Amino acid sequence: MAGKLEPLPGTGDIWQPEVSEWVLLERTAQEVFSRYGYGELRTPVFERTEVFVRGIGDETEVVQKEMYTFEDRGGRSLTLRPEGTAGVMRAIANRGLGQGEECRVFYLGPMFRGERPAAGRRRQFHQVGVENVGGLAPAQDAECMAMVMHYLEALGLEGARLLINSRGTAEDRPAVSEAMVNHFQPAIETMCPDCQRRLATNVWRILDCKQDVCQGIISQAPSMVDLLSQSSQRFFQQVCETLDALDVAYEIDPRLVRGLDYYEHTVFEIVHDGLGAQNALAGGGRYSIYVPGSKKPVSGVGFAAGMERLLMARESLQLSTGHNHAPDVFVASLGAGALLPGLQLAQELRREGIVTVAQTEERSMKSQLRAANKLGVKLVVIQGEAEIESGLVMCKNLATSVQEECGRDQVVAWIRKSLEAPAPV
Ligand code: HAM
Repeated sequence: MAGKLEPLPGTGDIWQPEVSEWVLLERTAQEVFSRYGYGELRTPVFERTEVFVRGIGDETEVVQKEMYTFEDRGGRSLTLRPEGTAGVMRAIANRGLGQGEECRVFYLGPMFRGERPAAGRRRQFHQVGVENVGGLAPAQDAECMAMVMHYLEALGLEGARLLINSRGTAEDRPAVSEAMVNHFQPAIETMCPDCQRRLATNVWRILDCKQDVCQGIISQAPSMVDLLSQSSQRFFQQVCETLDALDVAYEIDPRLVRGLDYYEHTVFEIVHDGLGAQNALAGGGRYSIYVPGSKKPVSGVGFAAGMERLLMARESLQLSTGHNHAPDVFVASLGAGALLPGLQLAQELRREGIVTVAQTEERSMKSQLRAANKLGVKLVVIQGEAEIESGLVMCKNLATSVQEECGRDQVVAWIRKSLEAPAPV
């Protein structure tokens, strides 16, 4: 029976105090991205399948193997979003935005990929991401990377490394592909079966292969930037110069391609040693995406960070909000006639900004104190029927075991003094 209550592999329930860590990621995203002129966009969790197939590319692992696709009752093919960019582009195109003028949005929420679960790899995971749609300037790419590094810094994530590369444009692709095929062809028999297939279908994907047998030959592959046209090289150079001017540290990784087909020009990834094998905290780049019904692609630049991985990296650095969710006060009631006055007192305390839990059923004092202890409450306020008559309340500090009686109108002051809580705003 217990097994049936567990969440499915690759998914999970998120409880307090972990939820406080998630709230920190969300609030920090709001704060940092809004400083760059980005507003939040919330798109549906599922879309027509073609939004992703067209947007992400039907040759990608995500589209071929990982999408959760189903038919609705009308026979339409729908898919749970495996990433944010394609849906965001659909929403922006739907509003007629991002044409000529930059449209800046950020988003966060759950994404779904049918991958083999592992540490840092889930089937339902969460991304926080941004897209700047409608421009073509190298400065946008650099600013986007500066922004993600700013976000990571605001989260205290020291040790995050920015790796960048350029894939050039569609015009560069034949020359790059040819050079890659020439490089891999002679050794292809020694490579894994997936790479042998990729040589014919999508040679770029070979650079993404993680199999040990393939690493030697991959590390010798030609540097991509060297194979690009002069204008693409110039674009990349301007991105690097702008990063330098903005004081953003980066490393050029000549074989970084990224797993989604929509990228052109700049691609980047941010890695962190606290993560283990799945070491990418975030990934992104410049892209050109077809949305269903559009004749020409829309271009933009953006990134997404895995929120589970941000939390893992914070944990590896022993960072925590330290947020304690125990209530401040437990209102205990002795006798049936004390329950309602207890609830009324609790309401008053909450209006004063004091986090309060009240006893709602008649129970012995012992069991109420046990409940208060279990909640981690610091203070207990006790009213019995006799106290209600006399207008007095018994106040007990569980941390110090000090117990004193005070007038009902003194309770708030006693609690504040005991908690040294600031007055509510
Ligand atoms: P991505 O590299 O597929 O890019 O995902 C971005 C980040 O999401 C990864 O670096 C990782 O932190 C996290 N992530 C991906 N898959 C999983 C998983 N199964 N479990 C846990 N975390 C995961 C994109 O999704 C692009 N849409 C990014 C982008 C935005 N490019 C341009 N704009």
